[in-house]
Amino acid sequence: MSFNTNKTSTVTEALESRITCRDFLDKPVSDKILKRILETSLRSASGGNLQPWKIHIIQGETLEKFKKTCVDRMMAGKVEEPTYPAYPSPLWEPQRSWRYKLGEDMYALMGIEKDNKMGRLAWLAQNGKFFGAPIGIIITGDKRLDQPQYMDIGIYLQSLMLLAREEGLHTAPQGWWRNWTSVSHDLLDIPDEEEVLVGMALGYGNPDHPVNALYADRANLDDIAKFYD
Ligand SMILES: Cc1cc2nc3c(=O)[nH]c(=O)nc-3n(C[C@H](O)[C@H](O)[C@H](O)COP(=O)(O)O)c2cc1C
Repeated sequence: MSFNTNKTSTVTEALESRITCRDFLDKPVSDKILKRILETSLRSASGGNLQPWKIHIIQGETLEKFKKTCVDRMMAGKVEEPTYPAYPSPLWEPQRSWRYKLGEDMYALMGIEKDNKMGRLAWLAQNGKFFGAPIGIIITGDKRLDQPQYMDIGIYLQSLMLLAREEGLHTAPQGWWRNWTSVSHDLLDIPDEEEVLVGMALGYGNPDHPVNALYADRANLDDIAKFYD
């Protein structure tokens, strides 16, 4: 397609209305819509056009099995080595406080107090059910990829999230699945040379669940941008 100078104001709307959706309706997404999102997402940019993403779309019986396997392994007290930890440890300021506040704001919306460790753990486990979404996505990539390609994967993820909003759908990006890679390797067709990079829940968001009222804070532009004349 040639260079398009038309106004595409829906990108702003998609970005502003996107949140990490942590509860989904029990409502199927049509194959047509799913295919449209996935096809268009392939237009994402990547350094050198390497297109390092491999996508595994999980639905139906496989999704049920996937969720059950994850929950069973969690309940059995198993812990796995993540492919990559979610954050540097220890985190520094202000990121440490931002992360802390996100958690507190989320649990406050659901009335799960700080001393309710079981309640918080149970909530965390919702990750293992793709937050009830009808579609789970696992993104894998070659183990030889390096940091520039992880950026490409992030760009791809953002494409999926914005395209989903255009269809009235919501998403939850999930680093969680890096902690439970055995589930992906046991149930999906992932070649030995690939690893799990990130996951995503996709479906119609539940407007009535309090967790979806979370509109996470952002830094001010002045705090993160430096302008040079
Ligand atoms: C790569 C990536 C991985 C994430 N992993 C998880 C996750 O495993 N579980 C979760 O609940 N949220 C996860 N999030 C959501 C972030 O917490 C969320 O994007 C952030 O708090 C900002 O909130 P917002 O997405 O609602 O604007 C992830 C986000 C990204 C970009």
